[in-house]
Amino acid sequence: MKIIVTKNYEEMSRIAAEQFAEVIKQKPACVLGLATGSTPIGMYEGLIEKYRAGELDFSAVHSVNLDEYYPIAPDNDQSYRYFMNHQLFDHVNIDKANTFVPDGMATDVEAACRAHEDKIDELGGIDLQVLGIGQNGHIGFNEPEENLQCFTHLTGLTESTIKANARFFASEEDVPKHALTMGIQSVFKARKIVILASGKSKAEAIKTMVSGTITTACPASLLALHPDVTLICDEDAYSLV
Ligand code: PGA
Repeated sequence: MKIIVTKNYEEMSRIAAEQFAEVIKQKPACVLGLATGSTPIGMYEGLIEKYRAGELDFSAVHSVNLDEYYPIAPDNDQSYRYFMNHQLFDHVNIDKANTFVPDGMATDVEAACRAHEDKIDELGGIDLQVLGIGQNGHIGFNEPEENLQCFTHLTGLTESTIKANARFFASEEDVPKHALTMGIQSVFKARKIVILASGKSKAEAIKTMVSGTITTACPASLLALHPDVTLICDEDAYSLV
């Protein structure tokens, strides 16, 4: 695993945006694996800036998102579809028909999970996947558990994740208790992975992730098994290593 430690959130975001920009320039019809949460927002802003400066063209880009709450409507302002539209898609020339977020309104959950997984394969796999990391070491909504799932599936959110995400909702009770998420193997299908972390609240998770031990108690630690992972994190997130 490559590790880049940055001074702060801004530098982390800039370097991550450059890595994405590089992939888009080299392969205009690339497939991007995208994530939500507060961490990648600065990176998306960087990509929007590059697009506005005429450096990037998203017209042939496809994207696949890691996860979505369940159940949730796409126009709910807490949905990850809404997040992606507002933080990135509405500001660049990507065709929204080429952007795929798990279906938070699916009546047949199994079929929706299969469809998401099939979509990744049909697109030829993900060229570059961005990940955040939960305070508990989760990636996507693959929460610390004895057994982790390989492919896209419905999962329950842990207490720690519900608490961490409550800041985006009116109250903790409003946080959905379930989500559809890509599994560990779905993430591993990406040819290249960038994992971002900022702030002291992530320091414990980063310490466990890079400890040299693989454990499902810290799903991010499994990334040690992938051949092309770059951790980009700021000094605060790296402070316990
Ligand atoms: P955050 O979430 O970027 O909002 O901290 C990351 C995650 O939970 O994966």
